[in-house]
Amino acid sequence: MKIIISASILSADFGRLNEEITAIEPYVDSIHVDIMDGHFVPNMTFGPPVLEKLKCGRPFDLHLMIEHPENYLADFARALSKAHGKRSDCYITVHQETCPHLHRVIQQIKKLGCKAAVALNPATPLYTIEPMLSELDMVLLMTVNPGFGGQDFIQGVLPKIQALRKKAPKLNIQVDGGINDKTAKMALKAGANILVVGSYLLKSRDKKKAIESLQSVGIIGY
Ligand code: DX5
Ligand code: ZN
Repeated sequence: MKIIISASILSADFGRLNEEITAIEPYVDSIHVDIMDGHFVPNMTFGPPVLEKLKCGRPFDLHLMIEHPENYLADFARALSKAHGKRSDCYITVHQETCPHLHRVIQQIKKLGCKAAVALNPATPLYTIEPMLSELDMVLLMTVNPGFGGQDFIQGVLPKIQALRKKAPKLNIQVDGGINDKTAKMALKAGANILVVGSYLLKSRDKKKAIESLQSVGIIGY
C-alpha cells in the first residue's frame, strides 16, 4: 500500500492560508482541513465561507470536529466544489462521537458526492463503527484528543490500528495527531496508510526534507 500524506493546515497562518497551501501542495497528496466548533472540541477554526476561498489542485480532506455535522454537510460539500473543483476527490470525515445516527450521515455524505469517512477519538472503541465498515472510504483513528495541533502522539492507539487493519485489509486508515518521522513509523507498522501531518511539516524550514523523512520511513509493515 502506498503511503499517503495529508498536510494539516491547522498550524498555518490563517491570514495567509492560500500562500501556506501553495508552499506545501507540491509535496503532499492532499490538504487536511480541521473544522472545529468550540463545542465538540475546545477550539474553533472556520466554516464553509472560508473553505470555499481556499485554492488547491490537490484534494481536500475535511475533518469535521463539530456537533450536528448533518446540518452543515451540504454547505461544506458546495465549498469543496468551489475550492477544489471536484468534490468527488475529497473526503468528508465526521466523528462517531457526534453522530448517533451514523449510517444516515454516511449516506448523506455519499449522496453529496464526496468520499465518506468516520473518525474515532483515542478512547472510542472500534466496535462502535464495525457495522459501518463496508460503507466507508476511510477511517480516521485519532492519535491525540482532537482540538489542537502540536500534541504528543498517544501510543495506546497502536493496538486499535492493528486491530482495524486485521479486520479490513484494504481499508484506508488515516492517523492524525503528533505525527513525525518517529511516530509515523509506529503508525505505519501498525497498519495505517494515510498520515496527517501538521506542525511537523508546517514548522519545518525544509518542507521537502520533512516529507522525505516521512516517506523514507518506508515499507508499510503489516
Ligand atoms: C487535531 C487536528 C489535527 C492537527 C494535527 O485536532 O485534528 O489535524 O492539526 O496537528 P499535529 O500534526 O501538529 O498534531
Ligand atoms: Zn485533523
